[in-house]
Amino acid sequence: QSIYLKDYRKPPFLIDHVDLRFELFEEQTRVHSRLQVRRNPEADGAERDLVLHGEDLELETLTLDGRPVEDAVVDSESLRISNVPDQFNLDVVTCIRPQENTRLEGLYKSSGMFCTQCEAEGFRRITYFLDRPDVMACYRTRIEADSEQYPVLLANGNPVDHGEMEGGRHQVTWEDPFPKPSYLFAMVAGDLVEKRDEFTTGSGRVVDLRMYVEPRNSDKCEHALASLKKAMQWDEEVYGREYDLDIFMIVAVDDFNMGAMENKGLNIFNSSCVLASPETATDAAYERIESIVAHEYFHNWSGNRVTCRDWFQLSLKEGFTVFRDNQFSADMGSPTVQRIDHVNMLRTAQFAEDDGPMAHPVRPESYIEIGNFYTLTVYEKGAEVVRMIHTLLGPDMFREGSDLYFARFDGRAVTTDDFVATMEEASGRDLGQFRRWYEQAGTPVLHVSDHFDAEKGVYTLSIEQSCPATPRQPHKAPFHIPLRMGLLDSTGEPLPLDDIGNTEQVLELTESRHSYRFKDLKERPVPSLLRNFSAPVKLDYAWSRDQLMFLVSHDPDGFNRWDAGQKLAIDVIQSMLEGNDTEVDERLIEAYRNLLTDTSLDRAMVARMLALPGTAYLIELTRDADVQAIHETRQRVQTTVANALREELLAVHMRNQSSEPYAFSAERVAARSLANSALSLLTLIGDEAGKDLAVEQFRDAPNMTNRFGALSALVNSPFEKERDRALEQFYVDWQDDPQVVEQWFAVQSGSPWMGGLKRVRELLEHPAFDWKNPNKIRTVIGVFAARNLVHFHEPDGSGYRFLGEQIQRLDASNPQIAAGLAQPLTRWRRYAPRLRESMKSVLEELLAEPQLSKDLFEVVSKSLQEQ
Ligand code: ARG
Ligand code: ZN
Repeated sequence: QSIYLKDYRKPPFLIDHVDLRFELFEEQTRVHSRLQVRRNPEADGAERDLVLHGEDLELETLTLDGRPVEDAVVDSESLRISNVPDQFNLDVVTCIRPQENTRLEGLYKSSGMFCTQCEAEGFRRITYFLDRPDVMACYRTRIEADSEQYPVLLANGNPVDHGEMEGGRHQVTWEDPFPKPSYLFAMVAGDLVEKRDEFTTGSGRVVDLRMYVEPRNSDKCEHALASLKKAMQWDEEVYGREYDLDIFMIVAVDDFNMGAMENKGLNIFNSSCVLASPETATDAAYERIESIVAHEYFHNWSGNRVTCRDWFQLSLKEGFTVFRDNQFSADMGSPTVQRIDHVNMLRTAQFAEDDGPMAHPVRPESYIEIGNFYTLTVYEKGAEVVRMIHTLLGPDMFREGSDLYFARFDGRAVTTDDFVATMEEASGRDLGQFRRWYEQAGTPVLHVSDHFDAEKGVYTLSIEQSCPATPRQPHKAPFHIPLRMGLLDSTGEPLPLDDIGNTEQVLELTESRHSYRFKDLKERPVPSLLRNFSAPVKLDYAWSRDQLMFLVSHDPDGFNRWDAGQKLAIDVIQSMLEGNDTEVDERLIEAYRNLLTDTSLDRAMVARMLALPGTAYLIELTRDADVQAIHETRQRVQTTVANALREELLAVHMRNQSSEPYAFSAERVAARSLANSALSLLTLIGDEAGKDLAVEQFRDAPNMTNRFGALSALVNSPFEKERDRALEQFYVDWQDDPQVVEQWFAVQSGSPWMGGLKRVRELLEHPAFDWKNPNKIRTVIGVFAARNLVHFHEPDGSGYRFLGEQIQRLDASNPQIAAGLAQPLTRWRRYAPRLRESMKSVLEELLAEPQLSKDLFEVVSKSLQEQ
């Protein structure tokens, strides 16, 4: 059932225009579709038959140029009409049942409103169509529904007609002048309030901005609209991209499989990724919303105007758009902090994916279900690959390349190779070898060693690259890797690396081995390597702890300063784990003391630096990982540090309070994050003063960041009485707000202190839990498996069996969600033998299920394959 990139053929037919009419009713929806079809002059070979995609549709009538088609062949995935003319109109009427659609693909109902999700292959669940991204059509959409229940009727483009109908119904008709693939189609019908704003483009056009939400959420739109305007401005300034329609709409829905969707002119968001007010959303949510709103908006050019030829090219739009939203977030706040957060996620989760059974190149070669390839590799590693092009070309050449790309491919469906070729053409650089980043899976490793010849004053860096085998790719050719670096002398001064005095260089590795010589040095320098994480690789160099301490305070590269601290902490934790050290190295405590007492430091940076490497990342660095031992050792280091720095932590918490009203500014966010980090370290060690502060902060918090910070500090502490009281109060206060309840679920299911599985099972029985809502499923079951590592990996295997049960139950209703939940199990080979075996047996049981969805089958069967 696999589909291969090498089998790509141009579509035999094209559809230039689509005329849709939706009759929405409570029992079912009738979809009338008129397609203007013609034979594709560029297709290879002349196909006589027209084969349209369609799933779970009831075909009512089918007419070709006005004549009923009698001999169409319908199966569970397609509709075949034989011997069609070269050009014709096809009228199709289908009946669907959005009310019963629990997969949340195609047209479905979510808390009383109709909405759609068509990417990647949802449109074929609405009507028969050539549901592939290289078939681009202009859409006209008429929606008919009950006027009272569904006063708001939306689709892509501009409204061109509306009117009352018989029986208390009404209709609105929309027309989208831009040709688009079916995955960008959207419609919405509901009783929604409208929030309006506007944006004037660089060329002076006024764009109507509208946000549609349920009435109870009308005070949670401001932040998304503000973010949208920032994104529109930024894309004009940095990429020269203006918005193209007169209206841009955002809709919030509670039931959504992913974060959000960039449908042309009508972006649809998961409520948790768009709704915010100071009382209900944390700073982290504000940040996430700003970047997702920007991400979806940026897709208007990188994705919609220029789209993907086929789904193997997904990273063409996603990698590039994530890179763009990362650049945007860096410009809105602190670039270093943004980079740290992003790399932390990449190294923890994407590296794990690249090292597991589902490893695939940024441009995959085959898939069974494309829904399984909306991965960290396609999105995040894809963004790193674009970032490396940006590094190799420099910002100006990169901009010339992107201008050329948008100009040349506007209105077309293209490939990642087209993107790279444009960058080559604009810059004159050869990216031939660089293309391997799209073709080869796996995370490259750089082994670095050095030598100093004191007599000659010559320092030599030797770098060797390699990349482990991944499924179906046993051997890898060398990558083209930009390695940003510098050298420091013993006083912390950056050393000049060339004749004109540059203190930073980008070394371009292309061979398996390189060595670089730096001359005229008086002493052995300390190398600062892979600055700003210039390539998604693992770097192996034997820094001493003293060198790392030195880099923490002297590296001019902020990212590497943070990373040196992480490396130091990892070294301390690992050598305790291996039994080489029994006590926590004093130097680590000193490093933290400096951070806490030096008030000149950027507070957001300090908060990041205070966080020890996560348990998941430590597991990712370990073969045969013993989760309990890793967790306990990390915890021991954490409590030792916190105990030693109690006074400093109390002072930091105190210094970072503010009585000003909530503002989402980089400065205030940093102060709140530092205060909350200090508080959680204090409660973690059972400090009484810390407990009082947390209880007080919980009671008096003027915003959700402080309130949730205090709740989370109490939940992850030995103070059970205070914790239970706070949890209860929090639920009483916020039970009517689904996004806050989701946070409340997550803080419990993710906490190693809350009794693990027993607690999670209780949450599943809680009245606020809903098996049909992906956010609830993710915040209870997903968070437990991905973040509550000690309990998920309970040595008796109970965590695994629990997850297996839930996946099995969910597969029938929502296969995308079920397959997503299976992710943690796929990494079974990483763990200690006993854990490994029980993870594997849960996978085997799932595979033996008779009615597995394609989605789950692909994940489970691939993770059990020999490697
Ligand atoms: N294109 C959307 C985004 O990244 C995600 C859509 C995901 N759809 C899916 N079937 N997985 O902005
Ligand atoms: Zn995207």
